[in-house]
This record gives sequence, structure tokens and C-alpha cells, in this order.
Amino acid sequence: MFKPNEDYLKLPGSYLFSTIAKKVAAFQESNPDKKIIRLGIGDVTKPLPKAVIEALHKAVDEQANAETFRGYAPDLGYEFLRHAIAENDFRARGCNIADDEVFISDGAKSDSGAIQEIFSKDAKIAVCDPVYPVYVDSNVMAGRCGDYDENTGMWSNVIYMPCTAENGFAPELPSETPDLIYLCFPNNPTGEAITKDQLQKWVDYANKVGAVIIFDAAYEAYISEDNIPHSIYECKGARTCAIELRSFSKNAGFTGLRLGATIIPHDLKVSFNGKEVEMHSLWARRHGTKYNGAPYIVQRAGEAIYSPEGKVQVKEMIASYMKNAKYIYDGLKEAGYTVYGGKNSPYIWLKTPDNMTSWEFFDYLLEKANVVGTPGSGFGPSGEHYFRLTAFGSYENTVEAINRIKAL
Ligand code: MLT
Repeated sequence: MFKPNEDYLKLPGSYLFSTIAKKVAAFQESNPDKKIIRLGIGDVTKPLPKAVIEALHKAVDEQANAETFRGYAPDLGYEFLRHAIAENDFRARGCNIADDEVFISDGAKSDSGAIQEIFSKDAKIAVCDPVYPVYVDSNVMAGRCGDYDENTGMWSNVIYMPCTAENGFAPELPSETPDLIYLCFPNNPTGEAITKDQLQKWVDYANKVGAVIIFDAAYEAYISEDNIPHSIYECKGARTCAIELRSFSKNAGFTGLRLGATIIPHDLKVSFNGKEVEMHSLWARRHGTKYNGAPYIVQRAGEAIYSPEGKVQVKEMIASYMKNAKYIYDGLKEAGYTVYGGKNSPYIWLKTPDNMTSWEFFDYLLEKANVVGTPGSGFGPSGEHYFRLTAFGSYENTVEAINRIKAL
């Protein structure tokens, strides 16, 4: 008999968003006349910016000519895109990141799931609770998380850092020392951000205890307040303790195109068996072995968001989603809900009414208002009695969804 990877068998149920999709499909099948509004998964709805479409067309045409045709992309990414990211997302903000510290990929989900591979099998991870499920599940698959307790919804070998209204949705330094710390700010799912001073404490802590921070900056484009960091490299000392994940999905609408980047500074190194090892070289080795690069046409599309027109168009897109966020936030408040997030993020995080569980509220909203959201408990035990709505719908659908919720 063959042997499956038993760590996969430890995972409970299916991936959160697959479970939700199945539930919604079943509801639609038994209620074909109902118009369901989906504010669940954080998937964008607006068409790609014009500058991106133009770059795509041009790159496609280049593939039609022998002189301009491109085959395999360089495994770490095309220089034009690595340069555009390092220049615009980092150096323009005063962060010292070199072009060759940027690795191009097919998105932040893949990278956030794969990055654990370059750390020891017995590395202990710390995660915020609630948390984007990929960080935990990918470590479970790697055999790092111990056993799952169905009663608590927790893994025996994971350090959970609760982020609830009581602590302002900001994790506290853990009492047990982790090796890997996953932080995502502005946060998915709570939609709350932390200040630069708060993030600096994490950088100082990681440098002190010798831990690495995996900083997921997928939502940085939604930051509207001044004291919120767009990158962890705005903090002093981050080059020796942090890896940053960037996404083109939420800012520029690439959820279908797929493009992301991971930043690993050369200064992130350890001494191992008497030799100095750069985590940069491990990730480069991994990329070279397991990945053939994001498509040329998609990398050209990514480059286009940094052109003057691209920048304007991306800003407009974000502003329109943030108009939805404000409508959701204000509408729910008016309806008497306790609401968080939505100011530096496209996610609105609310307290479920009447002490309903997150899944009870999910069913209630689906059945009574035909609106889909995401149950907070799906992101971890501290998400229980919370619920997430996204601002990524169309304005019309967002208004209708909130009006239906108000009318309940
Ligand atoms: C979410 O809804 O949390 C995100 O869309 C998931 C993702 O980006 O993979």
C-alpha cells in the first residue's frame, strides 16, 4: 500500500473559503430565485486598470514575434519588475531594499504557504488569532503544528496571539518564544492596523529572541492614516529579522492574473554549522527548483501599475472600494452593530448580534438577507462571535446588501 502524507490527514474539514462556497451553492440551488450578494471572500470585482490592460495587450503581441518572444522567465523574476517594486514600494518610502532582494511570484497566497519550507521542521510558529488560514494550514501540512483539538479549535504546537476588541486587535508579545512570527497588517480578517511604534516593538523583539517575522503587507494600499507602516522595513532593524510578502491582488485587481513578490534582505542570516547562511539564498534555491516564474505578460502588467497613469488608476480603484467600506461601516453602525476595521483596510469586522456564533450569523444572513460574509470563527477561536464583510463588491450590491441587513 502507498502511504499518504499523514500531516495532511490532520487538517480538519476543507479550506474555509471552499466550505463557504459549497454552502452558498447549496443555498442558491434550493432558492434559485434569490439574488445572493457575496461579500465573503476578498475577491475584487472591478476590471483591471487601463494601464494594466494596455501592458497586457502589448506583451501578448510581443509573444507573437520571434524577436520579442519570451520563453521561461528568470526564476527570481524579470529585472524590470524587481526594480519597479524595490524603487516604488520601498526606496520611495525610505526603505533600503535592493532590486535583487525582491523575488517575483504568482501571488502572496502561494508565497505565504511556501515560505515556511526554508525554516527548520521544528520551528515553532506564532500567529495572530484570528488569522488568515493559509499560515497555519501550510505549517500543519509541513508537520509543524502538533495535534488539533476540536473543542478549542487550536493546534497543540502553535502559539496563538489573540487579537480581539479587548486588546485593540493588536497582538501582545508571546510569553513562549517563537521561531517564526506571522503578522499581517492592515489585518486580514479584522481590518485593523497597527502603528509604526507598535510594529517596531515586534521588530525589536524578533531581533532580541532570534525569531523571524513573516510580514504580510497584502493590504498596505488601503492605508489612509499617517502613522500606519506600509512596509515592515520602515522599522529600524527589520532587515535582520523580517521577510515581507506583497500582493498585486487587492491593490490592482490581480486575483485572476496572479502576481506577488517576497522580499528577503541579504542581512537576514544565521550561523549554521560554522557557516553564515542567508535566508535569501535558501529562497532563491527553492524558487530555482520548484518554480518557473510568473508569466512574462503578467509581469509586464504588474510593471504598469507603477507608471504615472497606472498609479492614478490604482488609487481610483482603491478609493472606490474604500467608499464601499465606509458605506458598510456607517450602515452597520447605524443599524446598531459594533463595527471595526474598514478605515485602513477593505475588511469590516463586526460583533455578531445577540451573542450568535459566527456560523449562526452566517446562516441567518444568508437565509434572511441573502448576503454572504465570512464567519470570524473560521479564522481561529478568537474570531468566534465576530463576522467579516468585504468592501470588494460593486457599490450597488454593497448598498443593497447593507440596506437588506438594516431591514432585518
Ligand atoms: C480572503 O478573503 O481572506 C482573501 O481573499 C483570501 C486570499 O487572499 O487568499
